[in-house]
Amino acid sequence: MVETKDLNCGRGRVFGRITFIAVADITNAIAVIAVAAYIRFALLHKNVSLQLVPTEGDTLVLEIGSETVSGHRETLLQFIEEKFPHPPLRFDLVERTPLVVKVTRLQHRSIAWHLERMVRWVEDLRTRGKRKTVDPAVGSPRMELKKLEKNYAQLLEVMLEHAQMEERIVFPLLQRADPGLCKAANEEHARDLPVMNGIKEDMKSIGVMDYGTPACKEGLSNLSTRLKSLQKHCKEHFDEEEKDVLPLLEATELSGEEEKRVFEDCIEAMKVTHSHLFNFFLEGLLPSEAMEYADLIMKCGDKQLRASMIQIISNAK
Ligand SMILES: [Fe+2]
Repeated sequence: MVETKDLNCGRGRVFGRITFIAVADITNAIAVIAVAAYIRFALLHKNVSLQLVPTEGDTLVLEIGSETVSGHRETLLQFIEEKFPHPPLRFDLVERTPLVVKVTRLQHRSIAWHLERMVRWVEDLRTRGKRKTVDPAVGSPRMELKKLEKNYAQLLEVMLEHAQMEERIVFPLLQRADPGLCKAANEEHARDLPVMNGIKEDMKSIGVMDYGTPACKEGLSNLSTRLKSLQKHCKEHFDEEEKDVLPLLEATELSGEEEKRVFEDCIEAMKVTHSHLFNFFLEGLLPSEAMEYADLIMKCGDKQLRASMIQIISNAK
């Protein structure tokens, strides 16, 4: 069976069963904001809609039908889990996967989803006949081509920052232990860079063409081929990193302190895109993955960075 996804909405934004109300004054404590964000993703994971209502005080209260609960994050999560056992929340309290590995994998998930969306979008544009009516969600074909270009530019920014994070922080750790270890991964980053920039240029050219003309059709056809090729390279590259490179981080036997510092360096390295493209980044994650990412951000020791990201998560539409 072929899996299909609605490409016009966020990956996990499927509301459905019941309306819930989380009541909180989230203007003060960062900790409360962080828990509110986490609870938000937990409810998304359960496919349950949520309303945030500000009240007096600084306690987060979760109201489910006639029942109300407040307290620590674990208490609220337990309550949600009891009310909605499926799909289960995963509590990885004893998991030993290094934080850096988790962050890297989740970034791969988001990038892969956005690439898949981009490939489908271009394929749709390439094969679509002329529409009789304008879709207000996307506008005229030229407006849509501009949106496509903007979306790709955002994806490119996230991909480049992710690659830099690996090259500057993750790979050197492994190379210290074994100098030849990340040679292939580094080379693949360098190999894909011209392709990634070439696609950006293709999109610019197509953006000024008249949709439906032979030149535009040809441009979209070439773009589709190049995007699919990039997607294939990225998939292979991510698989290789996750199977052959990242597991070796555990073998470097970093101390708890070192591991935390490296993880924080990774989050710091993603600061630019996480500060203005964080919603875009989260859109590529399932609610359960977004929860995991939010959980990781909360482990970050840089209070300012943590506060700004949690604020963005809380406001995510
Ligand atoms: Fe990577």
